[in-house]
Amino acid sequence: MGAGVIIAAAGSGERLGLNQNKILLPLDGVPILVRSIKAFTVYPWVKEIIVVVREEDYRMIQGMLEQWQIKAQLAIGGPRRQDSVAAGIAALRPDLKWVFIHDAARPLVEPGIIAEAYSQVQEHQAVGVAVPVKDTIKLVDEERFVVGTPPRPRLWAIQTPQVFSSGLIKKAYKRAQRENWEATDDCSLVELLGVKVKLILGSYGNIKITTAEDLDIADAIIGKRSGVDTMDMEKFLESRSVRVGIGCDVHRLVANRPLILGGVTLDYHLGLEGHSDADAAVHALMDALLGAAGLGDIGRHFPDTDPRYKGISSIVFLEQVTEKLNQLGCAVGNADLVIVAQQPRLAGYTAQMKRNLAKAMKIPESRINIKATTTEGLGFCGRGEGIAAWATVTVLC
Ligand code: CTP
Ligand code: MG
Repeated sequence: MGAGVIIAAAGSGERLGLNQNKILLPLDGVPILVRSIKAFTVYPWVKEIIVVVREEDYRMIQGMLEQWQIKAQLAIGGPRRQDSVAAGIAALRPDLKWVFIHDAARPLVEPGIIAEAYSQVQEHQAVGVAVPVKDTIKLVDEERFVVGTPPRPRLWAIQTPQVFSSGLIKKAYKRAQRENWEATDDCSLVELLGVKVKLILGSYGNIKITTAEDLDIADAIIGKRSGVDTMDMEKFLESRSVRVGIGCDVHRLVANRPLILGGVTLDYHLGLEGHSDADAAVHALMDALLGAAGLGDIGRHFPDTDPRYKGISSIVFLEQVTEKLNQLGCAVGNADLVIVAQQPRLAGYTAQMKRNLAKAMKIPESRINIKATTTEGLGFCGRGEGIAAWATVTVLC
């Protein structure tokens, strides 16, 4: 179980015009290849990393991995990227369920994207990271006369990582070899099999170092990200403190109000009374987040005397709290919630609540946990007079 990662590093970097493989070059003191690998080493579910290299770079890269204390296997690549990835796949441990394929030449991939790709592949089997193209694209003939203009809103530029169920990607590569399919990315081979590929939104910062100006752009991006650099996640985490927050909220159950919890409208004859939508679960969560970041509480940020907030969805507040945290350079770690309600039964709603909260906090659902409990008829919750919610969170600052 878990995932294997194939890092394609066996190119020659011809378009960069130096007489060495571009992925060996340093960016702010750290080799491009090291940055690309380190983006994956923090995840406990990454069980194996295969770096596919050229024969002539083998020893150099072996030394580099030792120097940077990276545990990875090396495999020898082939003439085309596709051949190199095939060699990587052949070298993978057979028991892994998922396979990430990533270009060594994309050292700036953000950790959130990798986590999101892993979460999505559980559902879709084939996931590519991509961004909408910004330029209008022209299709040309050999003499560079325009033969067509595909509609831009439907064009996405594919990046890496791309991640697949291991059975699927092995099948695609086997067929490609047998039928001489050629492709410059891995999703293409899965598409040729007739299997649907899901794209998730990557970032424009996840550039592929290809030509000389990309080095300057990468330097600028690294400078800008200062402190939130993906190059060394362990170091990143070390340099940050993990902060814990707690939140609690209670609202009274009344007639003629919808019952909204975790951004979901529940089927119940009473609803929670309050100025906004009175979503006690989201309020508890927001208080926990603000508390962890040392930012006070929701009353301070969203006073219930403000007419702008009347009847508003608390999910909007949660998005704003997340934004505030992100602006401070903080990232949400995980969240655990308890909702205390004698009635209605919440079990059928918690999956949707998780989806809502994950989206608002921009973290994978896997980092959110929601529990529901009754109080055996005791107290105001037990008598059905109100609903209470508790939340604890971690925040990396
Ligand atoms: N790659 C590979 N094996 C090859 C060719 C490319 O593993 N035979 C890898 C590169 O090392 C790179 C990624 O695939 O990390 C994307 O390829 P590209 O950006 O084209 O890199 P190069 O082929 O090295 O560059 P160029 O095309 O300019 O020579
Ligand atoms: Mg190439």
